[in-house]
Amino acid sequence: MTLAEGAAQVLQTLPEPALVLGTDARIGFANRAARARFGAGVETGADLAALGPDEQAADRLRLWLRRCSGSRTALPGALQLRGADGRVTRFRGFGAVMTPAGGETRARLLLRLVDREDDRFPLLGRKLDELNVEISRRRRAQLALEAAVRDRDVLLNELHHRVKNNIQMLVGMLGMSRRAAAWATDPQAVLAEASRRLAAVGTVHQMLYLGDNLRGVPGETFLQPVAGGVLASLGVPHGVSLLADPVEISNDAAVPLGLVLHELLVNAVKHGCPDGTSTDCIRISLRRLPEEMAELRVEDDGPGFTLDAATRTGATGLKLVLGLARQLNGELSVGPGAVGGTCVVLRFPAPADPPKE
Ligand SMILES: Nc1ncnc2c1ncn2[C@@H]1O[C@H](COP(=O)(O)OP(=O)(O)OP(=O)(O)O)[C@@H](O)[C@H]1O
Ligand SMILES: [Mg+2]
Repeated sequence: MTLAEGAAQVLQTLPEPALVLGTDARIGFANRAARARFGAGVETGADLAALGPDEQAADRLRLWLRRCSGSRTALPGALQLRGADGRVTRFRGFGAVMTPAGGETRARLLLRLVDREDDRFPLLGRKLDELNVEISRRRRAQLALEAAVRDRDVLLNELHHRVKNNIQMLVGMLGMSRRAAAWATDPQAVLAEASRRLAAVGTVHQMLYLGDNLRGVPGETFLQPVAGGVLASLGVPHGVSLLADPVEISNDAAVPLGLVLHELLVNAVKHGCPDGTSTDCIRISLRRLPEEMAELRVEDDGPGFTLDAATRTGATGLKLVLGLARQLNGELSVGPGAVGGTCVVLRFPAPADPPKE
């Protein structure tokens, strides 16, 4: 088989019309698809330009063929040709020079015709659009994931700092207990109190990592676990009234505030309840105040006390509370309650709720 015969066979297998022709538009070869489409219009020697629906279309075809004769890569062109059934169809043509002109021989061109109404192109276009939409969707998802990872990194760093600070605070707290135990008549009781404080810190930590807001904990969900834990550790029934505004307790404030609540509630049970077992006379509230402040209030109906006198004792509880109040940039005050007894109030800064994620 000669090279030309081999090439002709390849052209026969193409599903679209393929022609070999001269730059004068005279047909040299037409494959099966071309003959089926154009019939006698593409017989050897026929003028392809004669299939144009009018003189202008024929001129455009000749002009384009001349351009193709200078190009070895397929040049696209828009053609209109009349088929064997008399219908004029718009084609996308791809023409390139096959055999360049030399001496007496004219250049031979290879021309492939693709039906412009062929729905492979719109289909491809649609697929391309879908792919572009998918790529932008994935890009957006990737950007969101990268931002989330950056956020996580920042939060993780904050968490490490907070844990370090809290451990330092616990070390200070245990030092206080150690000094108190040296003078105490019942060192075991001091140790038991220290372990209750550690348990209170554990309760707050659990609340922070179980919560779905990574930046803090809502006041409503803050009081119950801390107060419940204190009362359970003291072995007294839960008769305490709890009231909370929807104020956000930041991660940084949660541990010191939990410890303050622990100390004040233990004091209210130990020193403020008439029989030392019922806790019905205790009221705790956590409220939002104007100007991004909040207030923790622990009241009981006991005998009352003054802060000055109380901190002059060798006890550690209220000294710890004063230290924690400073850490919160807050202010502690002690006074009588609405109907006597004791009302201990801690006012501290509580920035407005951070936006929910
Ligand atoms: N709610 C209260 N009602 C009456 N007196 C109180 C109340 N809270 C504290 N006090 C008095 O203040 C004192 C000091 O309290 P503080 O919490 O510092 O020590 P503590 O409770 O005696 O011992 P701990 O070191 O275990 O806390 C108490 O001994 C008590 O006399
Ligand atoms: Mg105490």
